[in-house]
Amino acid sequence: MQNPVLPPPVRPFLKWPGGKYRLVDRIRSALGAGRRLIEPFAGSGAVFLNTNYGHFIVADSNLDLIDLYTRLVNAGNELIEASRELFQPETNQSARYYALREEFNGTRHSRRRAALFIYLNRHCYNGLCRYNASGGFNTPFGRYRRPHFPELEMRGFIARAQHARFMQAGFEESMALARHGDVVYCDPPYTPLSRTAHFTDYHTGGFDWKDQERLAQLAQGLASRGIQVVISNHDTVATRALYSTAGARIEGFTVRRLISCDIRRRDRVGELLAVFD
Ligand SMILES: C[S@@+](CC[C@H](N)C(=O)[O-])C[C@H]1O[C@@H](n2cnc3c(N)ncnc32)[C@H](O)[C@@H]1O
Repeated sequence: MQNPVLPPPVRPFLKWPGGKYRLVDRIRSALGAGRRLIEPFAGSGAVFLNTNYGHFIVADSNLDLIDLYTRLVNAGNELIEASRELFQPETNQSARYYALREEFNGTRHSRRRAALFIYLNRHCYNGLCRYNASGGFNTPFGRYRRPHFPELEMRGFIARAQHARFMQAGFEESMALARHGDVVYCDPPYTPLSRTAHFTDYHTGGFDWKDQERLAQLAQGLASRGIQVVISNHDTVATRALYSTAGARIEGFTVRRLISCDIRRRDRVGELLAVFD
């Protein structure tokens, strides 16, 4: 735990499935002291926004996400004004949503793309960031009564990002930057809960079991050089076996999670933190 007196949690400005905003206290208490935090699977940045390291590497394989962060930090006011225009009653309609989604998929203009990405994130179904085989954003309209324009959260992000380096990269590339004195927090796409423990060749969101194994190996390698790595995942027989074989300490807990499309159905599911140190 690097700082016992922390301000109230900073909310990410993006909705992000698997976002760790509600788990930051638990994650913070598993993370050790260090000079710099590396987040190879940064997503909405909930952990980076809520930890007090001197420097950060905020990395993710999603290019739209990292381009948005870079633009926000370099030209925040301009981007906030460009996206504000997209949060109007007229733009919260199905036909406009699909027209703006098409514009996003067709434009190379980076400020417009960044503004549209914020719009899509807050107006699409559940904040899901999903692409078709040709790379087009294809999440359907979300039908929210009045999507929140996250100006304060964007300003909070800019304030926290002064000591952050943003990079679009696969986890191998960002983890390769780790040096003595760094701490690494990994939040990969989770393994499905519904598979049996022995079924390890499935594919999920482009991140398959081989990737989970490679990540555990990299974590083990960094820990052997004195660099702490903490990994989040579902708590399953397979993930426990994977991380404990690689030498990690496991902290299991349960969280209430929406597990079906029915928003009244929130069940408790098991998650874990695997601590390699
Ligand atoms: C569970 S989410 C992370 C959520 C994040 N901790 C938060 O609080 O918002 C997983 C992230 O991993 C990214 N990702 C998927 N495959 C990746 C890969 N091979 N390398 C790096 N990032 C990847 C996704 O784009 C996604 O943002």
